[in-house]
Amino acid sequence: MKKHLKRVALGIVALLVLAGVGFGIFVGVQTSAFDASMAKVYDQKPLDAIARSSDPAVIARGKHLAESVAGCTSKDCHGADLAGGNTLAMGPLGKLTGPNITSKGLGGVYTDGELARAIRHGIKKDGRSALFMPSQDFNWMPDSDLVAVVSYLRAAPGVDKANGPMEFRWLGKVLDRQDKFVADVARRIDHAHVAIAPPPSPTAEYGKYLAKGCTGCHGERLSGGRIPGTPSSLPVPLNLTPHESGMKGWTYEDLDKLLTTGVRKNGKQLDPFMPIEPYKGLDETEKKALFAYLSGLAPLPFGGR
Ligand code: HEC
Repeated sequence: MKKHLKRVALGIVALLVLAGVGFGIFVGVQTSAFDASMAKVYDQKPLDAIARSSDPAVIARGKHLAESVAGCTSKDCHGADLAGGNTLAMGPLGKLTGPNITSKGLGGVYTDGELARAIRHGIKKDGRSALFMPSQDFNWMPDSDLVAVVSYLRAAPGVDKANGPMEFRWLGKVLDRQDKFVADVARRIDHAHVAIAPPPSPTAEYGKYLAKGCTGCHGERLSGGRIPGTPSSLPVPLNLTPHESGMKGWTYEDLDKLLTTGVRKNGKQLDPFMPIEPYKGLDETEKKALFAYLSGLAPLPFGGR
């Protein structure tokens, strides 16, 4: 009997060792695939047709896009003065900080065409992929909007501030390769066929493009669920489809109230992780477009991401 137990115990230990070795190999393969992809130099050239304008109307459009639509100035992205955002401490994934993009930071190093390429293609000055900058969510901006954003960045005062930490660990790399988290941005973009949005209108057709900015948290299919790999202290993005576990019964006024005041249809205050600051500045056309798109989605149960 004793001998038998010993054999079972040995068997279990052997299995655990094998599983550990297998897991180690899996992680090794995934992290080297991630590193190789991030080291790739893309053929896509800088968009040299995009050049800054000093027209105040163009700069004002750029400010609106940078603040509200693309969220560049969010506190967790590049910050209100564009000199770098808060460091996002993402537990086992690592630490990520949006850099200083004013003229005294990276903005001073990039040409207008290189900035436009970073926004539309997620490619850095050196031709490699940006890490974690969600270009895939707002690369639909037409050339006129790229000119506006670049003009706004160029008009912003230079700020002397060093860039914060960027440490991306193995778990994040594995999740990126499994498409559970987007860190390697440029590999997600079809560089030869970037879909460009139609002119702004209060329609689902335009709302579809605006809603790409919601997918990073609410999921590709907008049905919500925990962002993979994030600690339980981070609130869970909710279901934005018209399902009973989501936004069934919401009116435009309900969504407008949420986006401008942060108060949900059920009267509760939203957790500040849902970034209300940028969305407060969305104009009526944009909010109506978002509502038209979200309310027309197929209802999906909560959590399918
Ligand atoms: C940085 C992540 C993040 C982004 C980006 C984001 N959300 Fe959210 N959202 C959340 C989280 C987290 C919650 C849940 C907050 C809570 O529980 O209080 C939430 C809640 C909501 C709710 C409340 C739903 C309900 O049932 O009360 C709505 C509506 C919503 N978001 C819409 C949007 C829209 C529209 C966008 C894009 C324009 C967007 N969100 C972008 C994280 C995000």
